[in-house]
Amino acid sequence: MKIAYIVAKLAEASPFIEHYGMEEVENFFSPLPCRLYKKGELHVILNGMQHESDLVGCEAASVTTLATIERLHPDLIINSGTCGAFKSDGAEIGKVYLGNACMFHDRRVPGDDAWGTQSLGNYPVWSGTDALAQQLGLPQAKVTTGSSLDMQPCDLEIIKANGGQLKDMEGAAIAFVCSLTDTPVMFVKSVTDLCDSGVGTFEEFTRNLAKASEALRLANIKIIEQLISQPNTKD
Ligand code: ADE
Repeated sequence: MKIAYIVAKLAEASPFIEHYGMEEVENFFSPLPCRLYKKGELHVILNGMQHESDLVGCEAASVTTLATIERLHPDLIINSGTCGAFKSDGAEIGKVYLGNACMFHDRRVPGDDAWGTQSLGNYPVWSGTDALAQQLGLPQAKVTTGSSLDMQPCDLEIIKANGGQLKDMEGAAIAFVCSLTDTPVMFVKSVTDLCDSGVGTFEEFTRNLAKASEALRLANIKIIEQLISQPNTKD
């Protein structure tokens, strides 16, 4: 099974890249900024950098996902990264979830139901996610994506009205591109900050990034072992 991990920040991916001894394939996505690390059938693709910082957000994630699909033809895309979550839902710093649904929480388009439905997204997630979560004993949750690290009251309203639990900046954009190409996508998300903790999000995120990224490494090792031990499935 050819697996392509799409990861926004190097800090989120490097424990995992180092664990597997993956090597960078220089200029694979040139002239795009995306960067490829590879070991056999296992691939990690980073968005790359701009303004001396890792590219985050929906635009970079969409470009990376389309380039990955066109140039690598993966059987499965896995978006691994950090997220915000709610302690009122039982979330804790460093807890790792598999995303079993995804949508946007900051696209407010008035009009008929069709525009509203399109704006929320609610794209399909890989049908094997549930079985994998059961096999590994990982909790599942709905990923909601927006373009900002902070959360405005109108974001919270949409998240809560739609059963959102994990807040990120890339998931639904990646799933949107995957939906156009019928590419299976799954999410592995580790909590860096609690949106209802009362602590500033950036401060909490920065403090917990290393811990959450190590939790991602441990979860992803189990996920890969499980995936490669089962027959190839592409739905
Ligand atoms: N990534 C990590 N924490 C996040 C949050 N609170 N919102 C969006 N993306 C995040």
